[in-house]
Amino acid sequence: MAKQVWIDCDPGLDDAIALMVLASRPDAFSLRGITTAAGNQTGEKTFRNARRIGAYLGLQAPVARGADRPLRRPPLTAGDVHGEDGLAGMRAGNSLLPGDPRPAAEFLCDSLTAAEEPAVLIATGPLTNLAELFAREPGVKEKIDHITIMGGSLSGGNVTPYAEFNFCADPDAAQAVLCAGVPIHLLGLDVTHQAYLADEEIRAFGGLGTKHGGMVGDLMAFYAASYKKTGLPGTPVHDASAVLYEAEPSLFPGAEALSLEVVTSGERIGECVRKPGGPPNVRWVTSVRRAEFVEALFSCCR
Ligand code: RIB
Ligand code: CA
Repeated sequence: MAKQVWIDCDPGLDDAIALMVLASRPDAFSLRGITTAAGNQTGEKTFRNARRIGAYLGLQAPVARGADRPLRRPPLTAGDVHGEDGLAGMRAGNSLLPGDPRPAAEFLCDSLTAAEEPAVLIATGPLTNLAELFAREPGVKEKIDHITIMGGSLSGGNVTPYAEFNFCADPDAAQAVLCAGVPIHLLGLDVTHQAYLADEEIRAFGGLGTKHGGMVGDLMAFYAASYKKTGLPGTPVHDASAVLYEAEPSLFPGAEALSLEVVTSGERIGECVRKPGGPPNVRWVTSVRRAEFVEALFSCCR
């Protein structure tokens, strides 16, 4: 039975691959909405990218534009990693899915309230929209089964030595969502750095000769340039990990119940830390079967 899912994202190269996985698995997902936030690129660009990638992939879901800036911090973007347009200049035609006229938080509130079954949210960008949703309509939490989030790190950051990008971009929103009382499955850098593609695997995606394979090959080749100096054995597919976790949880065998919070000021702002003695508030995913993960991604591209 396909899960009703909503994705909140900041496309972004790996967000685009996450959308490709959603489009490739109609057996697993009934996509009910896409919301976008500023993050990898500006709010205007991530909104356009979601509509462009959605049209390119043949997705049929409303796309609602969310926050152009974090709750409190100044905007943080990553054009040096994702390119000036946020999609590495990807050739994806110029068709766009229509944009929903409502702001993301309003769209999510209306859409979740109307949902017949408990909803699954997948979040792969800064959590500004979800924080605004819960502030606007706390009751909507009752309609959510759980949220699967790509964000945070307990092993050092990728923006600062402490903070992962999504939590660093909007630490106040990340903290608000972790404390919202909604069940959270959290995939931080600790597991997404294990969910990588080696260079030869990236080339193999391009070699498939398919639309999805070419997309993964091109986007990951561009993304790989930012990972050369990190010492990682390959290029992580951060956001697609969150979607494949939802489709095939057995790919991610390790997890622990943790009590986590987010630092919202000072030098370590955006850092994800254990809250001593607090009740667990997240299922912290700790491992991935990498070979099977790569095969699952390949199967979305054949
Ligand atoms: O730290 C990686 C995360 O930040 C990914 O979601 C990437 O797309 C960026 O949003
Ligand atoms: Ca992202």
